[in-house]
Amino acid sequence: MSKMVRKASVAEILNHWVLAISCILLSISGFGFLFKIEFIGSLFGGFNLMKTIHNWVGVVFSVSLFFSMFNWLKDSLAFDSDDIGWIKVAGGYLSHKVKVPPMGKLNTGQKFYYVALLFFGMAISISGYIIWLLPGSRNWVLISHLLHNISFDILMIAIPVHMYLASIANPGTFRIMISGTVPLEWAKKKHPKWIEEAKLD
Ligand code: HEM
Repeated sequence: MSKMVRKASVAEILNHWVLAISCILLSISGFGFLFKIEFIGSLFGGFNLMKTIHNWVGVVFSVSLFFSMFNWLKDSLAFDSDDIGWIKVAGGYLSHKVKVPPMGKLNTGQKFYYVALLFFGMAISISGYIIWLLPGSRNWVLISHLLHNISFDILMIAIPVHMYLASIANPGTFRIMISGTVPLEWAKKKHPKWIEEAKLD
């Protein structure tokens, strides 16, 4: 059997599940509010109850987003010339003939995804708290609705792309969400700089 290396700790796996499940519940209920979809409202026990659930799941999401910084922020901000090279060849997603530069623990696309998630996740959380807790501040609530909707649109594009890339499109990746470990050979191919720097070989 091939040697395994750990890419995510148990705490990281748990936090990712909390982030993912809360985000999916918020997206479904948010969709229900946006288009007044009766069926979605009934799934949550009516629109009034759905609003209460949406607010409190929002609290879970924002706390989980805060903890996610301990998992991914440091690696996401470590940018070097290999990331520029990765952008130039679009990560090899458009052609198999190009040479993709060696990547660290996260590839450039994953870094961008995390930074975008953190930024828009914070924007959607802060605007959500203002709408919920400061209903009397008309101007703030108005701006917050705009910010909440723009962030929602961006996340609704980014998250399904992430789900696809982290599962079907890249076999071997999904297991990180379950066991947190990957085969050493796989990691050496996908994240050689990480294996080298962390001396996992
Ligand atoms: C339920 C479907 C999902 C699947 C199958 C999935 C899968 C994964 C996997 C396997 C990783 C580890 C990648 C690696 O370390 O190389 C990962 C990382 C990550 N996930 Fe998810 N995820 C899902 C949902 C979500 C959601 C809803 C969010 C955000 C709210 C999210 C945010 C992240 C972030 C920020 C990372 C680290 C950066 C990255 O690897 O792109 N995930 N995910």
